[in-house]
Amino acid sequence: MSVTDEIKQRVDLVDLVSESVSLRKAGRNFKGLCPFHQEKTPSFVVFPETQGWHCFGACGEGGDVFSFVQKHEGVDFGEALGILARRAGISLDPQTPEMIQEEEQRDRLLEVLEAATAFFQERLASPEGEPAQTYLAGRGMSSEASADFRLGYSPNSWRALITRLTAIGYTREELIDSGLASQSDEGRVFDRFRHRLMFPIDDARGRIVGFGARTLDGSPPKYLNSPETRLFDKSRLLYALSKARQAIRAESTVVIVEGYMDAIAAHECGYGNVVASMGTAIGEPHLRSLTRLAGRFVLALDPDAAGNAATLRGLDVAREALQGDAAPVYEGGLLRFESRLEAEIRVAVLPDGLDPDEIIRRNPSEWERLIAEARSVVEYNFDVALAETDLSDAKDKARLARRLLPVIASVSDPVERAHYVEKLARQVQVDPRVVEQELATMRDPRGSRRAPEPGPEPVEGTFGVEEYALTFLLRSADALAAANAALAAAGLEPLAGGDFLDPANRSLFDALAGAETKDRLAFRSSLGSGLRQRFDFVERRWARSPEVDESALRQDGVTACLRLRERRLRNEMHLLQLAIEGSDDEEEKRGYQNAIGRSSRQVFFMSKALADRSSLRVKE
Ligand code: UTP
Ligand code: MN
Repeated sequence: MSVTDEIKQRVDLVDLVSESVSLRKAGRNFKGLCPFHQEKTPSFVVFPETQGWHCFGACGEGGDVFSFVQKHEGVDFGEALGILARRAGISLDPQTPEMIQEEEQRDRLLEVLEAATAFFQERLASPEGEPAQTYLAGRGMSSEASADFRLGYSPNSWRALITRLTAIGYTREELIDSGLASQSDEGRVFDRFRHRLMFPIDDARGRIVGFGARTLDGSPPKYLNSPETRLFDKSRLLYALSKARQAIRAESTVVIVEGYMDAIAAHECGYGNVVASMGTAIGEPHLRSLTRLAGRFVLALDPDAAGNAATLRGLDVAREALQGDAAPVYEGGLLRFESRLEAEIRVAVLPDGLDPDEIIRRNPSEWERLIAEARSVVEYNFDVALAETDLSDAKDKARLARRLLPVIASVSDPVERAHYVEKLARQVQVDPRVVEQELATMRDPRGSRRAPEPGPEPVEGTFGVEEYALTFLLRSADALAAANAALAAAGLEPLAGGDFLDPANRSLFDALAGAETKDRLAFRSSLGSGLRQRFDFVERRWARSPEVDESALRQDGVTACLRLRERRLRNEMHLLQLAIEGSDDEEEKRGYQNAIGRSSRQVFFMSKALADRSSLRVKE
């Protein structure tokens, strides 16, 4: 049995979903408000028998326990595999004693940080914490928000935390490893955070991994943060993300501010989709975790940061991270990738001298306006570059062009790009064709993008219709187009990850559909190790299948893809049938019945298309 099967057997989807969605029994099934879009009447159904879920409402999504975790936690397949394996008590790899030890140490560090958080909270509530309390009150923070974000106070002492935590069984080494204690050159161990307002920083799953600590008496630094530890990596973490997740998803927008105080003020005033970059430049790792939750990013920057070259570079990175998927639109004409382009970055430049914190608390409508009027990255780059350019100076104009061309080159929408070409040409007063030409030389060599890294995945598995379809898709560059043409001829949508039931196959397909390269080996090397193993498995099995040759594969490959869709449609009909049986609402039942009607018409066309094709030579 593969790990994914074992997980499916051990993890009950109803239990899992119940932790975040309030489900009620509806006949044989369970029903609740869809966590993936906003709705008032429940259309999200969980099927205990098939261990599947489906939203019959606006988002129309569905899948299994893996896709639920992927979507809900905003993680990729590999991470979902890890989360579920842990839950099921399955080790993904033959674990070495060192790996087990490493994991135990990690868990221990998380415990230490949790214990420290509780200690700091307790101190804040005590008379000792009064300076911090007074400070918070002065900043306009409610005690609810302070409790919600688990703010605390680190006593004005070299040993308060160490004394407490060693008394309850943690070692000095653990305190040092978790970044809570430091060691002097003479070997003395002392509390790192003293007389500071403590902001616990949690990861996307809400586990505390470090602290930001604000000075209360002006002694520098203003914020002392945890050092880099095994758990704490500022380049990946976003403050308040675990709290903001739901709102980000619901609004499909995330607002990124810089400071702890800013993020808390936003949440306190009802802007739940705000996270803080903790003063570091926004980089690709930050964004990667967000692209799965939101299509729109608004960076709220103070004028200093906004004018800063590093910020500009940061934004360039951001643009690439988000728009990487766009490349195939031009190279392969795969129009459906355009839908992935929904991700857009905007920049809201804040009024001079005002923190988001102050704006939000004093004038929420001003805040809303600033966010609503945020500029696109290209416009913003124009603004900044133009402000620094003397247009009467030829050298300055050339510099302006050099600076803006790469930005324009990264715009994936041709119409939008043409617009900026015009704009730049107008600014530097040259023929737009000259700009266009410059651009053409820049756009050509694109770096190849790596597919998302999945977790370890067992190599062996069955070789059925999914693997057959994948073999076909992997072996020739125009295979996907051929399959999609056949689907289109039957009036159906292009092949999608959801046509594959096996999570590893689904991820491999997604990677393939998103690949920039048409070259098989280049594609292979762009894969993470888990998917590469899957790729190799499919290839190896193919090499060991003497019963089918290349020409048969070309013929049957399309058929295999159609079969996948047929199976998916039938599955969906089956789910709809289950939903009808489970429902006690007549109108709702009619809705499901109509959907069954639509699917069955599609299945009808599909069967006709399949009947015209030769039969598959591989068992299903
Ligand atoms: P700010 O200086 O804007 O601080 O730095 P702030 O959050 O607005 O704090 P208040 O309002 O003055 O109390 C923005 C963020 O940069 C990081 C922190 O994460 C801070 O929230 N930072 C700043 C540091 O890590 N260290 C510093 O010394 C300063
Ligand atoms: Mn501030």
